[in-house]
Amino acid sequence: GEDELDARIMAAKRTLGDRVVVLGHFYQRDEVVRHADHVGDSFQLAGAARSRPEAESIVFCGVHFMAETADLLSRPEQAVILPNLAAGCSMADMADIDQVEDCWEQLEDLYGDMDAVGDDGRVPVVPVTYMNSSAAIKGFVGRNGGIVCTSSNARTVLEWAFERGRRVLFFPDQHLGRNTAKAMGVPLDQMPMWNPRSPLGGNAEDELRDARVILWHGFCSVHRRFTVDQIARARDEHPGVRVIVHPECPMPVVDAADESGSTDYIRRAIDAATEPTTFAIGTEVNLVQRLAAQYPQHTIFCLDPVVCPCSTMYRIHPGYLAWVLEGLVAGTVHNRITVPDDVAAPARVALERMLAAKP
Ligand code: 13P
Ligand code: SF4
Repeated sequence: GEDELDARIMAAKRTLGDRVVVLGHFYQRDEVVRHADHVGDSFQLAGAARSRPEAESIVFCGVHFMAETADLLSRPEQAVILPNLAAGCSMADMADIDQVEDCWEQLEDLYGDMDAVGDDGRVPVVPVTYMNSSAAIKGFVGRNGGIVCTSSNARTVLEWAFERGRRVLFFPDQHLGRNTAKAMGVPLDQMPMWNPRSPLGGNAEDELRDARVILWHGFCSVHRRFTVDQIARARDEHPGVRVIVHPECPMPVVDAADESGSTDYIRRAIDAATEPTTFAIGTEVNLVQRLAAQYPQHTIFCLDPVVCPCSTMYRIHPGYLAWVLEGLVAGTVHNRITVPDDVAAPARVALERMLAAKP
C-alpha cells in the first residue's frame, strides 16, 4: 500500500543520508514530491543538480531529458538515476537529431556558410533548443554556436541569439518559440514553421530568406489541450479571475490569458497574491492541484475541466522511487542515465551558454 511505500522510501533515504539527493519536477504526483529534497521547474532542477557535488547519486523524479541534463551538469562520478526509464517527453522526441541535421544542411544550401559572420557582425542562423530535447540535440546546438533555453529564460536567450545571428532556428516547441518571439515584436509572417517531412520544411525559399525565427514543428500534447473557450468560460463563471498559462500553450491561448510563464512563475504569482484571488491555470494538473491545496486562501483550478496530466511524468510511481533507493542501499545503481562523452562536451557548451546568459 501507499503507507508502506512511503515508509520504505523514508527508511532508504535515512540510511543513505547525504549520499543521495532526490529532485522532483513540479508535475510529479504528491506521493513523489513529498520525498524530494528539491522541487522546481526544469531550470531550477538543473541548478540543483549542479549544487550538490557531495552526493554520490542524484535520483531525478522527472522525465528523461531532465535526467540527461542533470548528468551533463553534475560531476562525472555522480550517478544520475531516472526511477522509470519509460518516463520520456513526447515533445522532446519530436526533434530527431537526423531530421535537425537535415534541416541545417538545407538551410546552409540556402543561406551559405553558417559560420560566416556578415557585415552586421552576425551569422545566418543561431540554433536554439528548448531544454525539452535530447542531449544529442543539445550537442548539435553546442557545436553550431547555439544555446539552450527553458520556459523561464526563453526571452533572454532569444535576445542572446539575435545579437549573434540574423535568424533563429528554434526547436522542438513551436508554441514556446512563437509566443516568446511574438512578445519580442517579431511579426508572425517572419516565423515560418519547419515540417521535417517536407522539402525546405514545407516553405518557399523567399519565406525562409525573410524569416527571423524558424519554428520546428513540435508541441506538448498536454498544453495543446488548453483552449480560448476554456478561458472565456472561466471569465464568465468567475468574474475577476486571473488566468495564467504556461508558454507551451498555443498562441491564441497565451494571448487570451492575463499572464504566461514557467511552472515556477505560476507558483510565484500565486504566492505573491496578497488578496484572496481566483486563479485559472493552464498547466499540468498535478501542479495545479498541489497549489490549490497549498494556498487555501485562494481559489485555484485547472482551465481544462477534464484533467490534464502529463502521462510520462506520471510514470515515476513511488514504487520505482523505493526500488532505486533500496538499490542504492544495497550498493546497486538501477536506471543510470549517462550521456556519451562525444555528445556531452558540446551539449555542456550549449547549457553553459544558457547559464551565463542569466534569466
Ligand atoms: P518548466 O520549465 O516550466 O518546469 O516546464 C517543463 C515542462 O516540461 C513543461 O511542460
Ligand atoms: Fe513533455 Fe509536455 Fe510532459 Fe512537459 S508536460 S514533460 S513538455 S509532455
